[in-house]
Amino acid sequence: MTPKPKAAIFISGRGSNMMALIEASRDADFPVEFTLVVSNDPGAAGLAWAASQGIAALAVDHKPFGKDREAHEREIDAALKAAGIELICLAGYMRILTPYLVGQWAGKMINIHPSLLPKYKGLHTHERAIEAGDSFGGCTVHWVSEGVDDGDIILQAQVPILKGDTPDDLAARVLIEEHKLYPAAVRHLYAR
Ligand code: GRF
Repeated sequence: MTPKPKAAIFISGRGSNMMALIEASRDADFPVEFTLVVSNDPGAAGLAWAASQGIAALAVDHKPFGKDREAHEREIDAALKAAGIELICLAGYMRILTPYLVGQWAGKMINIHPSLLPKYKGLHTHERAIEAGDSFGGCTVHWVSEGVDDGDIILQAQVPILKGDTPDDLAARVLIEEHKLYPAAVRHLYAR
């Protein structure tokens, strides 16, 4: 059997999307193997979980790099290349990437964003959707480009916004869809 392409997941926090991807990848027909989890926060809860699953968990703390974002990214980039990574899935990675890393991984880096892009790029997506009176919220998996949450859309899922929803209510409803959408999007990429 030919080995599957190796993929990395970038996280900054709890990593529930990371877990959904890794759990989905246990299916024999999943198209990639997740071999590396990277976080800019050594305390990210998801790192310990990844390590417990036997997946390399790498923390590259951004703080010692100060304002030099590119130097931080160069260190991560070297680790990705040394590990033979072919796809990067950003999953709650809370750093805006510089054109350097985006350029190195053009066409090989995807992100999940908790809104129906192109609506609500950036933060506080659920609050903004509720305030706007939208009937639907959702999530999007998209290619990463230089603009924040701006690359071509791969797949989306939508959920209703119900009367009286708080941003937390909506976030919880969307998160359930995120956990299905992200693995589906990875499958979709390799089914082409
Ligand atoms: C998700 O809602 C994701 O879409 C957003 O940040 C959240 C991360 O959650 N970018 P988790 O760390 O995957 O649990």
